[in-house]
Amino acid sequence: MQDVVLTTPRLKLRPMVEGDIPAHFALFADPEVARYWSREPWTDMTQAEESIRAIIAAREDGSEVRFGIELLSSGELIGNVGLHHFFGQNRRCEIGYALVSKVWNQGYATEALRAAIQHGFDALDLNRIEADIDPRNIGSGRVLEKLGFRKEGYMPERWLVFGEFADTVNYGLLRRYWEA
Ligand SMILES: CC(C)(COP(=O)(O)OP(=O)(O)OC[C@H]1O[C@@H](n2cnc3c(N)ncnc32)[C@H](O)[C@@H]1OP(=O)(O)O)[C@@H](O)C(=O)NCCC(=O)NCCS
Repeated sequence: MQDVVLTTPRLKLRPMVEGDIPAHFALFADPEVARYWSREPWTDMTQAEESIRAIIAAREDGSEVRFGIELLSSGELIGNVGLHHFFGQNRRCEIGYALVSKVWNQGYATEALRAAIQHGFDALDLNRIEADIDPRNIGSGRVLEKLGFRKEGYMPERWLVFGEFADTVNYGLLRRYWEA
């Protein structure tokens, strides 16, 4: 059960709740956000309801640590970042994230991920965090590289997205890179 709240200079990272459903829907209904997310943009509010319920259930059973990302200045929910696919024995997990397109390129993802990663290495005692991104998702790769992730691999045609095969670039961040 994770009910942790983290704050950064401009953001609050906090558990997601049922009241987030409309903002969560708006996030994934945006075709720009869904472009490299390996699923169609949402068209129905029930998709957001199911997703929020799944996020709450995963928090309760400990399988995922997902934070809603809120602007401190206005309280607006601008996205989320999650640590998931935990392999406890190996102290590793994956990271996933999305922000509403109107706030892109202002450093918010980098700021939010930095806090979530610090939480992963400190409170969750992780040794390694992995990310899997589409090579065309330049902004996402840039965020990971700014945070010290290293490119570790390339897997062609790993996903079938909107009828088109998409490649994966694998990134990894080790605790020792983070601490250096
Ligand atoms: C990926 C995402 C989270 C980045 O969020 P963000 O708040 O814009 O990220 P930041 O502002 O912290 O950093 C983005 C960086 O990418 C750079 N960038 C973005 N698009 C770029 C492009 N087309 N070419 C070159 N650099 C680009 C920005 O300039 C910035 O780098 P800088 O700080 O060195 O200038 C956001 O675009 C998003 O939510 N995308 C949709 C969901 C998604 O793809 N999630 C990741 C799935 S793995």
